Amino acid sequence: MKNNQPQINICGIGPGNPDYICPIVFKKVKLADIVIGGKRHLDIFDIENKKNILFNGKLDDLKQAIENNKSKNITIVVSGDTGFYSLRKFIVNSFPEFHIEVIPGISSFQYLYAKLGLGYENAFKGSLHGKEVDYIKQIQSYDSVFLLTDKKNTWKVIALNLVKNGMGKSKFHIGNNLSYPNEKIISTTALDASKMNHDFELCSVIFEKCMM
Ligand SMILES: C[S@@+](CC[C@H](N)C(=O)[O-])C[C@H]1O[C@@H](n2cnc3c(N)ncnc32)[C@H](O)[C@@H]1O
Repeated sequence: MKNNQPQINICGIGPGNPDYICPIVFKKVKLADIVIGGKRHLDIFDIENKKNILFNGKLDDLKQAIENNKSKNITIVVSGDTGFYSLRKFIVNSFPEFHIEVIPGISSFQYLYAKLGLGYENAFKGSLHGKEVDYIKQIQSYDSVFLLTDKKNTWKVIALNLVKNGMGKSKFHIGNNLSYPNEKIISTTALDASKMNHDFELCSVIFEKCMM
């Protein structure tokens, strides 16, 4: 790090329960002049409101907030791990002049695989969070597929798609509100999941290769 080089810390906060956050993240947040994150993320930390900047999902606003606070010690808190579909890439690409320290967190995929007693050595890990992925094709090359979901690409849409493609017998796991007191993990088949109705929002999904 060069003298007077502006600095940003990007910290992964795991699935959301403070018990799953590395202690160094709490230190970085305490030392920061400005902490940026989504509401669910900021609410975890005991910090004065004046230090907080709520990330509203708009990247232009985020960029401006960082520009405006260039001389300050900024910490950005992101869900799960920093290396798996987080703001890290955008920040690193947008601020080449900054020294950026990245602190990893437990990803929702690590947490869900662990909870199920499964490994991810031969797993495809992707995101349907505002993206498209041909997971029907991917499962042919892997033992299992992990997917981040969003309001459009929900666990139910995935289950229905598996059934449509002849994979109704695949083991299907839904992880809702992982690590929180109201966590729900459902392990069933894609066919049974396709017939369920649950009002789940924060969700991740794993399905396994169908062994016929
Ligand atoms: C922008 S992505 C961030 C992924 C994150 N970097 C990670 O490593 O898990 C947000 C998605 O992560 C998943 N997610 C994050 N926290 C979760 C939780 N506590 N329970 C279930 N899924 C979660 C959901 O699929 C959500 O839509």
